[in-house]
Amino acid sequence: MKIATVGKGGSGKTTVAGTLARILAEDGIKVLAIDGDPNPNLALTLGISRERTDDIKSIPPSIMGVKEDSDGTRRLYMTIPEDELMSNYGAVAPSDIKLIIMGQPPDGSAGSGCMCASHRAVRGLITEMSGYGDHTITDMEAGLEHLKRGTARNVDTMLIVAEPYYRSLEAAGRTWSLANELAIPHVYVVANKVKNEADVTAIEEYCERHKIPIIGVVPSEEQFIEAERRAVAPIDFAPDCQGTLAIRAIAHKLRDLKMSSAG
Ligand SMILES: Nc1ncnc2c1ncn2[C@@H]1O[C@H](COP(=O)(O)OP(=O)(O)OP(=O)(O)O)[C@@H](O)[C@H]1O
Ligand SMILES: [Mg+2]
Repeated sequence: MKIATVGKGGSGKTTVAGTLARILAEDGIKVLAIDGDPNPNLALTLGISRERTDDIKSIPPSIMGVKEDSDGTRRLYMTIPEDELMSNYGAVAPSDIKLIIMGQPPDGSAGSGCMCASHRAVRGLITEMSGYGDHTITDMEAGLEHLKRGTARNVDTMLIVAEPYYRSLEAAGRTWSLANELAIPHVYVVANKVKNEADVTAIEEYCERHKIPIIGVVPSEEQFIEAERRAVAPIDFAPDCQGTLAIRAIAHKLRDLKMSSAG
């Protein structure tokens, strides 16, 4: 499966992506985690220490070249072999998760706003590197830009992380429409930071109205916030808290989904 977490800024994409990756990997699944956010912080959520995260090199967008077939079709290709890419840029997180970080602007374009090459490189790498794991989990940058540019076109499972307030749900609705335009096969909402029944109802009503399936409801979890304060992975800090259990339930649903689509 090629999974991506998307959603509004701060909705919980990285928390969900990292914790999900750890849970799947602990079940023996080979996971490649891709940090596709120009401001990367997936490593910490996967359980890599703060000291080590600073040493992980981000993959430059130039790693993906573009070549034109004889019929004029433009295709992305990797300019170095997979193994070399992993040994130069890859990091290993607990449970043998492999992590690569990309999504940063090409050298010299910082501040120019041009993220085209970077979006293109994330898209290409999701496909080219998918052999590196049974699952790839890509933590996308906030907002819809990467969807509009088709960065997420190559994923097959999109988790839209949404909080129970109007603007977050509206953003989820727009994301859902774009994901459908890109024909992504499995798209779900993860309701995150849910405080009470009224929150659940707000999300359920919105999703029912727009026919968006909800794959799980993650409560507002004080332990996640404390983990963040201490700069440790939520799953290491509180492996059995309600928030982690809710993400565990999502992981199981995804596993069942994979089995049913394989069978
Ligand atoms: N279920 C939850 N309960 C409480 N706090 C949470 C929950 N999920 C995430 N958080 C907290 O919300 C903040 C944002 O989470 P996270 O970094 O995962 O979001 P994000 O969508 O990846 O953000 P960004 O758009 O900046 O990349 C963090 O402080 C995190 O600890
Ligand atoms: Mg994030």
